[in-house]
Amino acid sequence: MARITVFDTTLRDGEQSPGCSMTAPEKLRLAQELAELGVDVLEAGFAASSPEDAESIRSISRDVSGPIITALARSTRSDIEAAASALEPASRSRIHVFIATSDIHLSQKLGISREECLEQAAEGVRLALSYCDDVEFSAEDATRSDVEFLIQVITAAVEAGATTINIPDTVGYVLPAEIESLFSTLLARVPGLSDRVLSAHCHDDLGFAVANSMAAIAAGARQVECTINGIGERAGNAALEEIVMALQVRRENLGHETGIHTERIYRTSRLLSYLTGVEPQPNKAIVGRNAFAHEAGIHQHGVIKNRLTYEIMTPEMVGAPGTELVLGKHSGKHGLDARYKALGYSLTREELKRVTRDFKELADRKKTVLDEDLISILHHEVMEDVPEVHVLVSLDVHCGGDESSATVAIESEGATRNGEGKGDGPIAAAFAAIDSLLDIEVVLERFSIRAATPGRDALGEVSIQARIDGHTFTGRGAHTDVVRASAEALLHAVNKAAAARSLEAGHAMATSEVGGV
Ligand code: KIV
Ligand code: ZN
Repeated sequence: MARITVFDTTLRDGEQSPGCSMTAPEKLRLAQELAELGVDVLEAGFAASSPEDAESIRSISRDVSGPIITALARSTRSDIEAAASALEPASRSRIHVFIATSDIHLSQKLGISREECLEQAAEGVRLALSYCDDVEFSAEDATRSDVEFLIQVITAAVEAGATTINIPDTVGYVLPAEIESLFSTLLARVPGLSDRVLSAHCHDDLGFAVANSMAAIAAGARQVECTINGIGERAGNAALEEIVMALQVRRENLGHETGIHTERIYRTSRLLSYLTGVEPQPNKAIVGRNAFAHEAGIHQHGVIKNRLTYEIMTPEMVGAPGTELVLGKHSGKHGLDARYKALGYSLTREELKRVTRDFKELADRKKTVLDEDLISILHHEVMEDVPEVHVLVSLDVHCGGDESSATVAIESEGATRNGEGKGDGPIAAAFAAIDSLLDIEVVLERFSIRAATPGRDALGEVSIQARIDGHTFTGRGAHTDVVRASAEALLHAVNKAAAARSLEAGHAMATSEVGGV
């Protein structure tokens, strides 16, 4: 049985997807979750893209143990040195060097000849090896490259000492049968390649990212590069959860295994959605809201009799919660702790105290508190990591007719101030009332609202993305009253901007959009 190395690039390629940017503390939180999930290699970022990204790689290298931590670098001295320096605190690190190999990239993007590309590829690998004995080489746009030239470049990278060779389908162009044949050709024709780890990195532009990754494995790839929820540039990267569960469910036929703790997949997916405010589509395999829902009566009937009639895996295998009533307002701290344990979360005493407080408040407003509510409460609490410069004290909204109005009271640095605003709906009015109390411009770039659970009294999770001080911040709020959740989300983003401002005044700012590859 071959072990497939799972290389997670959620924090690098994934974070490059529109609307998925995260702050440094958010990336660290997700990195810790990915380590617990059992990923083998964790790509923390692209050090040369911005000082913030370098700092974030450094903090992940320092604080996350388990996986090999890697950072991306173009095949240039300055990029490789930036990656090496950011990875310094890691106990196990890898430098990931790449250069494009397709003629279109060489002539249009890099303006270099094939010979120069060959030289730079080998030089980059050698330089990276002088800093780190684990070096991955990627031939960007490999699947649109001339195969004979690709063989030459990969041969040069292997001779230079690269320990992993990655073949990216950068633009999601290749078909499963083609990638299988390409990997077989490379293994047959590149001397020494079978002694290195061959890796696949597939994008989903034609919807084949997972199928192509599986085809590459069939031809001999032993590492797959993927992201949680399949987030990534354009249509995304291959989804980690789909590859892992395909290998798990079809293990008898495929004969491979991974080190992923599959029962942690769902919570990792939820954390990512929570941090970015980007939800997987409802019918998304493994982690979509409907992935384990059986709507049709005939299906329900079959599943009640024997789950295997319509299920090839159980929700428990990926840690997806049931939706039964779990706790009520009379439940206490111990019941709550036990339920969290059953969901796979071990809470510290401090966390338990905080979630118990919020749970009681929620149970007063909501008849049935479901597993999803508990996950939402926990994430909300765990991630509220910014100092609350502005705190929402009260919010009153009047709506109906053409215009809504709102009054808010906000406490900022010990003083409570009241503001008023109008808008064409209650949320717009609440935002206008908050705006009237702020001395900065807040431009709303994205607003999304999600019911964490079914039912009229569902906990509403609001996620916003706002442009403040020239940077993008995400903000989150959760409440059974969605107007209040929206106001909380706005203030969360504003508080993050305030925290970034004070950090900036000190040294590097801890958030911004990251420049892509
Ligand atoms: O898609 C791609 O080519 C990449 C490489 C930089 C590995 O992300
Ligand atoms: Zn990519």
